Amino acid sequence: MPSVYRARLGKGMDKITLGYVSSMHSDMQILEYDILGSCAHTLMLLKCKIIQKSDAKKILSALNSIKEKDLMRGGESEDVHEIVESIVIRKAGLKSGGRMHTARSRNDQVSLDMRMKMRDDILGICGGILDCTNLLLKLAEKHRRTIMPLYTHMQQAQTGTLSHYFLAHIDALLRDFERLESTYSRVNQNPLGAGPVGGTSLPIDRKETLRLLGFDKLVENSIDATSSRDFAAEYVCNIAILMTNISRIAEDLVVWSSSEFSFVELSDKFASPSSVMPQKKNPDIMELTRGKTAMTIGGAAGILSAIKGLSTGYGRDLQEIKPKVWSASDTAMGAIAILGASLSSIKVNDGVMRKAVEGSYMAALDVAEQLVLDGMPFREAHKITALLVQKAHADKISLSKLDLRAIRAAIGKNSIKSTYVQSVLKSATASASLRKRKSAGSAGFAEQKRMIISRKKLLAKLHKKHMKQEKKLADALNYTSARISKVLK
Ligand code: ARG
Repeated sequence: MPSVYRARLGKGMDKITLGYVSSMHSDMQILEYDILGSCAHTLMLLKCKIIQKSDAKKILSALNSIKEKDLMRGGESEDVHEIVESIVIRKAGLKSGGRMHTARSRNDQVSLDMRMKMRDDILGICGGILDCTNLLLKLAEKHRRTIMPLYTHMQQAQTGTLSHYFLAHIDALLRDFERLESTYSRVNQNPLGAGPVGGTSLPIDRKETLRLLGFDKLVENSIDATSSRDFAAEYVCNIAILMTNISRIAEDLVVWSSSEFSFVELSDKFASPSSVMPQKKNPDIMELTRGKTAMTIGGAAGILSAIKGLSTGYGRDLQEIKPKVWSASDTAMGAIAILGASLSSIKVNDGVMRKAVEGSYMAALDVAEQLVLDGMPFREAHKITALLVQKAHADKISLSKLDLRAIRAAIGKNSIKSTYVQSVLKSATASASLRKRKSAGSAGFAEQKRMIISRKKLLAKLHKKHMKQEKKLADALNYTSARISKVLK
């Protein structure tokens, strides 16, 4: 079937050129939205008396009957919009079907389809984030007293708790949730009826399609509605940030599951073998999360680059943005689902983690802070503790094993009693450190308990809000399908 658009152009496109310009492949992801958008547009044209009921009926029935296999027989089409219209014309006849594309353009249509898919993706990913944080919260609860080393510069820093680690990532993921939720409000706006760029002389009602499709407001300016893609850039940038957050956890799991660390063991379900080395259990899935994050960041950079050089008004360059958006969504949905499941299935070697703490000098800051509590200026306490660490390191023993002679040798002419220092060193155990650490948000035991309770409350609140958002959209679309059925009756 020849293109329905090419009346102005005598010749058809050759196969290679058509393949080059076509967005059919990535448009399969918006087929359902293109059909739904076309249904709403038809209902609006009918309500505004731009088309007759008999035409609307034929158009809606043709739209309702479109199957994926119809697209395969669609002939020369550059995109899903063209193919859907040609199928409608074929099924409903030119006299009725030829009226569907009245008062709209592919330019408002593609932005509409993108926005409808993206809002579903955002809702799905936000739901995934809530499920994942819920799992992480359960892990935090389970590991409130699992002692582990905390790192800076990948060097042992302070004694910590595994729950503190999980809570840190819960907070980061909830910021991702907030960012996406806020993006939703800018995505969930109706561009339909903007036409190619400057609107239409036909008496349409853009607010009607807004209601039918469950949008929150109009993208009012028709130039803005058709040619802006900042909503897509914002979305993919937010996904890139989300993926970056997930990627850091993936990196931790790669390191922690190495034989040298052995802090955790991944479940066999989330590991890959080697084709040749029989002993291998590789963290390929986590490595792929790192790799896919890189590609998402590339997608965000690609989108911004496509937009920045475009003069105002639709340009076909914008077509290249869609696959980057789809792939960001797919990546995020996969990564967030896998993250929760793989973390829930890891085996935590708490003995190894504890041993790493006990065999370290991570109590140093606790020692210095005890000296401060007993009246010493922090800089002096820092220096004395550093000298003690230097001595213990040279003698290859732990801080608590330093005897009075060694302590005297370490602190030299610093005027502080070695028996007092020894008692401070002996009492600076990992558990004591976590009992004493009470500053807000710290690794201390009490803070773990408090933060877990507070995040639980927050999650419940966000979950409720999220369900409400989903329901609002579903209600609008249910109403529209009832309106369609009424016309079809
Ligand atoms: N396939 C196009 C896209 O994805 C649809 C819009 C085409 N509009 C046009 N005037 N050529 O962006």
